[in-house]
Amino acid sequence: MSISFSVNGAQQSVDPARGSDTLLDYLHDDLNLTGTKLCCGIGVCRACTVSVAKGPAVSAMISCSTPLSVLDGTAVRTVEDIAEYGQLSAIQQAFLHRFSFQCGYCTPGFVMAATVFLDAIARAPIRAEQLDDAIADAIGEHICRCTGYVRYHEAVKGVAMQILNEKPEARK
Ligand code: FES
Ligand code: FES
Repeated sequence: MSISFSVNGAQQSVDPARGSDTLLDYLHDDLNLTGTKLCCGIGVCRACTVSVAKGPAVSAMISCSTPLSVLDGTAVRTVEDIAEYGQLSAIQQAFLHRFSFQCGYCTPGFVMAATVFLDAIARAPIRAEQLDDAIADAIGEHICRCTGYVRYHEAVKGVAMQILNEKPEARK
């Protein structure tokens, strides 16, 4: 039985003998999807974050430390899948407009973690006063060597506020 999962909607079928290969290596070497970055390689910096859905549960996951063997039945999404028809997503535009990044090496990881977070609050709104802590939970462990932390946080908050303002229940 092969390990079956999808990447950006394309079905993948991998020999179980490759189960210990990392998702990051698979993305780079098999699919030539190099937008997901390798930095520390030991599960600390989160530059390699992708989103992984299993059924309705979607989580941000570090690909450098995730073996293919755990991905059976999942749907992986990488930064290459975020812009649609050449249009940056709201969070990509916000990072750009707020100058959140400098070298940009950490940015794909922030994009993916923020996308998972923003999709989650769109489905299950939280109160505005909970946002700072929730954003810190979502992106607070990501390392940016250019120290764009505040601007990343503010960009996510801006998009999150737009989402919550469209959800009356979030203003209670
Ligand atoms: S490269 Fe994966 S956590 Fe740093
Ligand atoms: S923008 Fe350079 S590491 Fe974050």
